[in-house]
Amino acid sequence: MKTRGIALLGATGSVGASTLDVIARHPGRYRVEAVAAQRNVAAMADLCRRFRPRLAALLDADAAAALARLVADEGLPVDVQAGAAGLEAVATSEGADTVLAAIVGAAGLRPTLAAARAGKRILLANKEALVVGGRLFLEAARVGGATLLPVDSEHNAVFQCLPPGYAGDPRAAGIRRILLTASGGPLRQRPLHTLASVTPAEACAHPNWSMGRKISVDSATMMNKGLEVIEAQRLFGVPAGDIDVVIHPQSVVHSLVEYVDGSMLAQLGHPDMRTPIAHALAWPERIDAGTPALDLVARASLDFEAPDHARFPCLGLAYQALEAGDHASIALNAANEVAVAAFLDGRAPFTAIADTVAAALDALPPRRIGSLDDALLCDEEARGHAYARLGLPRASHPALAA
Ligand SMILES: NC(=O)c1ccc[n+]([C@@H]2O[C@H](COP(=O)([O-])OP(=O)(O)OC[C@H]3O[C@@H](n4cnc5c(N)ncnc54)[C@H](OP(=O)(O)O)[C@@H]3O)[C@@H](O)[C@H]2O)c1
Repeated sequence: MKTRGIALLGATGSVGASTLDVIARHPGRYRVEAVAAQRNVAAMADLCRRFRPRLAALLDADAAAALARLVADEGLPVDVQAGAAGLEAVATSEGADTVLAAIVGAAGLRPTLAAARAGKRILLANKEALVVGGRLFLEAARVGGATLLPVDSEHNAVFQCLPPGYAGDPRAAGIRRILLTASGGPLRQRPLHTLASVTPAEACAHPNWSMGRKISVDSATMMNKGLEVIEAQRLFGVPAGDIDVVIHPQSVVHSLVEYVDGSMLAQLGHPDMRTPIAHALAWPERIDAGTPALDLVARASLDFEAPDHARFPCLGLAYQALEAGDHASIALNAANEVAVAAFLDGRAPFTAIADTVAAALDALPPRRIGSLDDALLCDEEARGHAYARLGLPRASHPALAA
């Protein structure tokens, strides 16, 4: 069997760590060729020691210089690069036919787009890149001959429940609707009048999944599910009206596809990202993910309920944005990124997140998004509205500006 070279964007994050765990279980099958992150020198140095990639890149120039010194001192055969060009070098690295896209936020768009243009097999976790890049990203993947394999557990579940060779035409495939499941996060039962006082630690205490801080807050607001509705529409070509969300607190059923004959196909498993990652890595084959078998008898019951839109206004805002057009999805994501960062830094209350996103959607006039520059301009404008709404000085967004 030929060893597959893998490039990891966001190698030091939660999805990066789960992916490296799966890769380490199959040494003859996969090789870590290149790794990229933002500024975590210690974690990158550790990855260089363990996996000896040919190339390692950090967006932050000082952090990259520190990593280069460490690598040289230890005599590791790793080329260290910096900045946006370094991230793109990882994404297009010749020795890797597979790229894990797991940078958090719209910052992942440029390198993931580079991987799409280079015709890579892309394991897509970075949903924000697809929300912002939209049709442009899908078109780049088509022209470049790239293959997109969803790693987000819900989309990976849907992918597994679709007919083989599904070509983006739900009617032809007899699909009635997609049901995305959502745990409801840590605040599902919290008294509504106390939401304004939710702390970052409380918002990040997800009951089932262990994830990075941004996606954890997105799960607490259910913006994560809203972004996933947009992601599902883009990936599977199913209209927004045929994508429903159902709360399923146990996070065992990862999503479902309903067909016109009344059949509902679901994918089940432990809430452990190694399963969708292993599926995408090996597809169309199957490999051991290191997860224990799911014991349905021990699990005993699975519950489902409708989402409470008063508690989770971000979910409705995402549907609204999807209907309004590409500019609105970009604004939704940008304002959310700004507001979540402000909340995590203690500069905004939890309830300001939905308020900021709603205000940005109202403020941004409709416009055509015909190029990457259009998308990035729209993103910048929405960030400006969000900072103004929060009463905060505008911070730069280096990866987007590059
Ligand atoms: N965690 C999950 O279970 C899960 C499940 C489904 C989908 N996802 C999606 O996967 C993505 C990653 O989530 P995560 O939970 O793994 O996030 P995370 O733990 O916060 O890790 C983020 C990764 O992105 C890197 N990064 C951040 N900003 C960057 C920038 N401007 N340029 C380059 N690299 C940057 C970080 O590098 P440093 O360490 O150097 O800062 C880190 O490697 C998100 O889009 C999320 O929605 C995650």
